[in-house]
Amino acid sequence: MQVGKGFFMDGHLLNNKDTMDKPIQFKVGAVAVYGKAILAPMDGYSDLPFRVLARELGSAMSYSEFINAKDIIYARRPGYEKRLEFLEEERPVVYQIYDEDPERMIKAAIKLQERGADILDVNMGCPAKSVSARGAGSGLLKSPEKIAAIFKGLTAALNIPITGKIRLGWDDNNLNYLEIARIIEDNGGKMLAVHGRTRLQGYRGEANWEAIAEIKRQVSIPVIGNGNVRLAGDIQKMMDYSGCDGVMIGRAARLNPWMFSGYERWEAPQELVYQSAKRHLDLCISHYSADYGLILFRKFIKSYTSIYDIDAETRLKLVTTQNVGEFYDLLEGLFSRKLTHQKGIVVGDR
Ligand SMILES: Cc1cc2nc3c(=O)[nH]c(=O)nc-3n(C[C@H](O)[C@H](O)[C@H](O)COP(=O)(O)O)c2cc1C
Repeated sequence: MQVGKGFFMDGHLLNNKDTMDKPIQFKVGAVAVYGKAILAPMDGYSDLPFRVLARELGSAMSYSEFINAKDIIYARRPGYEKRLEFLEEERPVVYQIYDEDPERMIKAAIKLQERGADILDVNMGCPAKSVSARGAGSGLLKSPEKIAAIFKGLTAALNIPITGKIRLGWDDNNLNYLEIARIIEDNGGKMLAVHGRTRLQGYRGEANWEAIAEIKRQVSIPVIGNGNVRLAGDIQKMMDYSGCDGVMIGRAARLNPWMFSGYERWEAPQELVYQSAKRHLDLCISHYSADYGLILFRKFIKSYTSIYDIDAETRLKLVTTQNVGEFYDLLEGLFSRKLTHQKGIVVGDR
C-alpha cells in the first residue's frame, strides 16, 4: 500500500526497499552506500528501533550509539548487549566506538568486528566532560598522534573499513580539522563524518559548512557533513554548499524521521505518521519488552503528535497510559480521525 512517498506492508515501512536499484552514492572501502541522508549516532536515541525505522524511511546506513571500548573489554554492563544488536535490514551497519587508549580500542574493535558490523567508526566528537576529559571523544582532537596510532592500529587489525567522526577542533583557537582529516586518511580511514562545530560550541550556534567544504576539497575519502540540518530541504543545500558525499542528521531527525523520505515535518501524510508510530512501538516492544519498550517509545511521542491539534485529555493519556494494548488503541483512535496541524507550529522547530 502506498501512502504519498511512503510504503508499508505487513507492518514494515518499505521506503528503502529498492535500495539496490538506486545508484551508489559513495563507497566506504568496499561497502556501497545507496543514499545521501544518514541518521546520526545519538546516545539514547539511535537504538535499534529508531535506526530500523529511519532506515526503512530512507536513511542510508545505520550508526550505533557510541560504544565504550571498556564496556566491551570488561563486559561490566550486562545491559550493553542491547546496544550491540542490529537487524540484517539495517546494513550497512556501523559500530561507533570511543576510548582514549589505542590498544584497548583495538582489542574492543576486534571483538566488535566479530559481531558482524560492516564498518567501525571512531568517535572524536563527543563533548561530554565524562568522555572528553579523559581524552576520548572530542578529547582525541587534542592528540593528533593518538588519532594516527588508532587509525593505523585499527586498519592493520581489522578487515572492515575504519571511519571517523570529528568536530572542527577543541575551540576556535584550536581548529585542527584539516590536520586531523589528513591524518585519518593517511592512516587508512575510509570515510569521515564532520560535525561542523567545535567541542566548546557543544550543540549550539551555527555549524560551519565552509569548513566541511574545505575538508572535502582536501581529502579523497567520502566526507559526510553534519550540523545545522533542520529541514529536509537542508540536506541538498548542505551537499550543494560543501560538496559533501552525504549528510548526517541528528536532532531534526528525531522530530522528523520522514525527512529521510523527503518530507518536511508538516508534509508527512497522517497515515504514514501513524504507521511509523506503530512500527516504532512494535520495534521497541520486540527489542526491549512491552513495559520498557513503551517507556522508551515515549521519548519520541513529540515526533508523532506535537504537530497536531490534540485535546488535552488525549495528550495526557499519551504520556500516562501504561498498558501497551490500551496505548495501541489510543494511537488508533487518535489517528483514525483527520487531525489538523496546530497553529503557530514553528517550521523546523525542535
Ligand atoms: C542526545 C545526543 C546524543 C548524541 N550521541 C552521539 C554519539 O553517541 N556519537 C556521536 O558521534 N555523536 C553523538 N551525538 C552528536 C550527533 O551525532 C550530531 O553530530 C550532532 O547532534 C549534530 O547534528 P544535528 O545538528 O543534526 O543534531 C549526539 C547528539 C545528541 C543530541
